[in-house]
Amino acid sequence: MTWLITGGAGYIGAHVVRETLKSGRNVVILDDMSTGIATRIPDGVTLEEVTLVDKAGVEAVFAKHEITGVLHLAARKQVGESVEKPLYYWDENINGLTHLVGAMKNSGIKNLVFSSSAAVYGEPDIAPDALITEATHCLPINPYGATKLAGEWIAHALSASDDFHVAALRYFNVAGAGSPQLGDQFILNLVPIVFDALTKGNQPRVFGDDYPTPDGSCIRDYVHVQDLAEAHVAAMDYVERPDTTFAAINIGTGRGASVFEVLDMVREVTGLEVTPERIQRRAGDPAALTADVSRAAQLLDWQSKYDLRDIISSAWTAWQQTH
Ligand SMILES: NC(=O)c1ccc[n+]([C@@H]2O[C@H](COP(=O)([O-])OP(=O)(O)OC[C@H]3O[C@@H](n4cnc5c(N)ncnc54)[C@H](O)[C@@H]3O)[C@@H](O)[C@H]2O)c1
Repeated sequence: MTWLITGGAGYIGAHVVRETLKSGRNVVILDDMSTGIATRIPDGVTLEEVTLVDKAGVEAVFAKHEITGVLHLAARKQVGESVEKPLYYWDENINGLTHLVGAMKNSGIKNLVFSSSAAVYGEPDIAPDALITEATHCLPINPYGATKLAGEWIAHALSASDDFHVAALRYFNVAGAGSPQLGDQFILNLVPIVFDALTKGNQPRVFGDDYPTPDGSCIRDYVHVQDLAEAHVAAMDYVERPDTTFAAINIGTGRGASVFEVLDMVREVTGLEVTPERIQRRAGDPAALTADVSRAAQLLDWQSKYDLRDIISSAWTAWQQTH
């Protein structure tokens, strides 16, 4: 069995590739290397350096390899950039997806695991202490989240029209590292942003301390990237079952952590002084986003194993190796 992993040279992809190999499946990576890092690719794994925007290039990859399923992680993922360049996001994330699933259809491949995101929920109209279920109304508030929701719709339609078996994994806040070489090298999410500030002698900023949460800061569901990688193996098993159609599945821990709790953990793990600067709220930041993870347990027989300390300490070890 050979699985094509798009975005396999990326931060999450590198972890997913390793877990897929451990599960006994072969792997081919399709990646344009725009944000991918070559040293993350394990020895013996083939890289097809192709952009998904190149329809013929994608089709050629399917002609060359006997692929049995696709884990589709490659995407543009920066919310702010998506607001500035919406057409670029629709082109990369949606035209890219149509080329990929078109090639799957032409080759008779039906098993698809799609990287979706909690960004599909936007700012859900639920109480801050309520959990987000997959039935929570989806209303993305930026083009990035819109491309993820539209991607789910395309995959859902193909499950009806062409018998695709689909798991759309709605990742919550991914952080940590499965090994010190595989950390997130971009400074886009809370944990790397805090490390970056502290190691430059600056203090992290907290956007809003007057949210209706116990300590006033925003709450998010931080999931360890190693747990996430293991969820992908469970999702491959799930889509390989003959009775699978389409399921959107939250991937988180089911426990929220506030920004101040994350900063307290960073202080404990790093031993650095952390005295955050409190500034005003940012637009588009909901008070709390915590996953209901019961569907993942039910359909995938998966649940997270790692806690916030594991996430911060593994991320810090990886950060020190690469920065
Ligand atoms: N990191 C998070 O917290 C998070 C949360 C929710 C969802 N996601 C999703 O997870 C996936 C992986 O994210 P990541 O954090 O590993 O990002 P990343 O940027 O590290 O990895 C993305 C990979 O895809 C490749 N790629 C991007 N566009 C491509 C294209 N058009 N054609 C071919 N290759 C392309 C890049 O070179 C890179 O190797 C994305 O779909 C992202 O939207 C990430």
